[in-house]
Amino acid sequence: MSESGNIKILGLSGSYGLTSKNGLLLQLALADAKSCGAEIHIWDLVEKPLPLVGAEGSWEDENVKEFQALAKSCDGFIVSSPEYHGCMSGVMKNTFDWLHFDHVSGKAFALMSTLGGQINSNTLNQMRICVRWLHGWVIPEQVAVGKVKEAFDDDGNLVDEELRTRVAKMAESLVNTAAWRASSVENE
Ligand SMILES: Cc1cc2nc3c(=O)[nH]c(=O)nc-3n(C[C@H](O)[C@H](O)[C@H](O)COP(=O)(O)O)c2cc1C
Repeated sequence: MSESGNIKILGLSGSYGLTSKNGLLLQLALADAKSCGAEIHIWDLVEKPLPLVGAEGSWEDENVKEFQALAKSCDGFIVSSPEYHGCMSGVMKNTFDWLHFDHVSGKAFALMSTLGGQINSNTLNQMRICVRWLHGWVIPEQVAVGKVKEAFDDDGNLVDEELRTRVAKMAESLVNTAAWRASSVENE
């Protein structure tokens, strides 16, 4: 929880940069979470890269320590990954691999993916499995954006209004679930 008692949500992208399609999608979902009263944070890998897990010096990396402390302080997560060869990106998996039970167990997750081609659920399903292994709670609402090159206008908004509503509903569900999980964890 934030100091003011608001639910804290952290956005994680499986692409570098906030102007990547996943960066844009994540910012839309986080803005929706903010409208629902959440305090929002985003981890920008350009500003603070996370080393590959196990690379020399990675266990003592200052960015990793900061990332894990921020994750631990948050109540819920919105995660967005591009699909690469039918899987979540390696960047996304590496980010998940820096998280442990201690940081995310019992907390709510919302999942999104982007694809250059037609929509499928490969990346969403893989991330669902990954979060389950971290003992997180993935909400049923999820978003996949296909043909992603044409999906955003010049202002970074989704062209498809139904899809935009879907993102907003997902974010609302995430904030509600995160609040419920936070009160459950508090009472455990
Ligand atoms: C290495 C690589 C593999 C990709 N594999 C797929 C794929 O299997 N299916 C697909 O629909 N798009 C694929 N794409 C397209 C990406 O999904 C697309 O560029 C990405 O979702 C755009 O998001 P971004 O701007 O956040 O990177 C691939 C792109 C790259 C670079």
